[in-house]
Amino acid sequence: MPDFPLCLGIETSCDETALALVRGGHLLASVLASQADVHAIFGGVVPEVASREHLRLLGPLLDILLERAGMPLSQMDIIAVTRGPGLLGSLLVGVAFAKALALGLARPIIAINHLHAHLLACGLDQPMIFPSLGLVVSGGHTEIYFMESTRKFTRLGRSLDDAAGEVLDKTGQILGLPYPAGRAIDEHAQAASRSTGSLPRPYLNNINLDFSFSGLKTAAINLAVELDLPGNTAALPGLCRELTAAIAETLAVKLKRALSLYPHITRVYMAGGVAASTSIRQYLQAALSPIPLICPLPALCGDNAAMVAHAGSLLGADGFHHDLNFEAIPRGRVIPEDAISDRKTPHQFA
Ligand code: KG4
Ligand code: ZN
Repeated sequence: MPDFPLCLGIETSCDETALALVRGGHLLASVLASQADVHAIFGGVVPEVASREHLRLLGPLLDILLERAGMPLSQMDIIAVTRGPGLLGSLLVGVAFAKALALGLARPIIAINHLHAHLLACGLDQPMIFPSLGLVVSGGHTEIYFMESTRKFTRLGRSLDDAAGEVLDKTGQILGLPYPAGRAIDEHAQAASRSTGSLPRPYLNNINLDFSFSGLKTAAINLAVELDLPGNTAALPGLCRELTAAIAETLAVKLKRALSLYPHITRVYMAGGVAASTSIRQYLQAALSPIPLICPLPALCGDNAAMVAHAGSLLGADGFHHDLNFEAIPRGRVIPEDAISDRKTPHQFA
């Protein structure tokens, strides 16, 4: 295996079909087809539709990727694919596609934990510092990790019910905003001069690092109805600002609590679709100062394949691969640590 293997990454865990090429921490090419429009009419992702779309799109997207990169398939050193968590049918399409490529090309395959990959996207084009804290905040997850190295992540806290992005998307539906609503809510929040109404900062009266956002979702939907939205457009920016503030302040309290438990940590990384929010980034940057908060570029916060290819190239460079029999793991099941080491000597991690 070369020191800097060329890794083809494949992402199909939810409603984005994506492929990317990464070598040595640099993104060489990527393609992404969002199915958001297809699912928008249902107000959320329809699993069966998502799987069929992945199946339809993967082959043509691979051709486009290789053409853009000007590289033949035979040049790939490693195939990396998201194995979970996600929608099982969607994951299976990507995993079967990746296994077929790995088998046909006689290359190693690496199965990637989607949530770890989100955080590792912070290391594209810049070195990551360990140990550090990581916050994944997306449509399906809100989780805090202690990150010992690019490979060793320990989950410290998680959402007990809804994720922060779910609150944004479901409230956005009531507000008449297009699905997924996170970006539009962020834009309205930034345009508001003040908050309208008052929403809870949920599940803070405890000593743990978990989250519970379902109460905030109900409160935000009730406030929207009370304010006569979507008709009363004058109230929209203020409500978006209050909702964004409620999420950002809740995240900040738990992150500061985690930092107090690990006083030697000098960096916090944040990734996942909601990490693209300008208002949430700004609030957390100020709240955690002087500890820097580092996020991927906004385009690499949401689901993408660059993060999968990067995670794969890091594991490959460290001498790991997976057996072709590895399983896709749906949401709610623990992802096994079953990577196989190709090296005879023990690994040194950063
Ligand atoms: O990471 P992601 O693409 O998919 C999951 O793994 O869930 O995250 C999607 C979530 C959605 O809830 C979407 O509304 C939210 O990220 N999102 C944003 C922004 N862009 C996407 N939330 C706030 N501000 C944004 N700019
Ligand atoms: Zn994601």
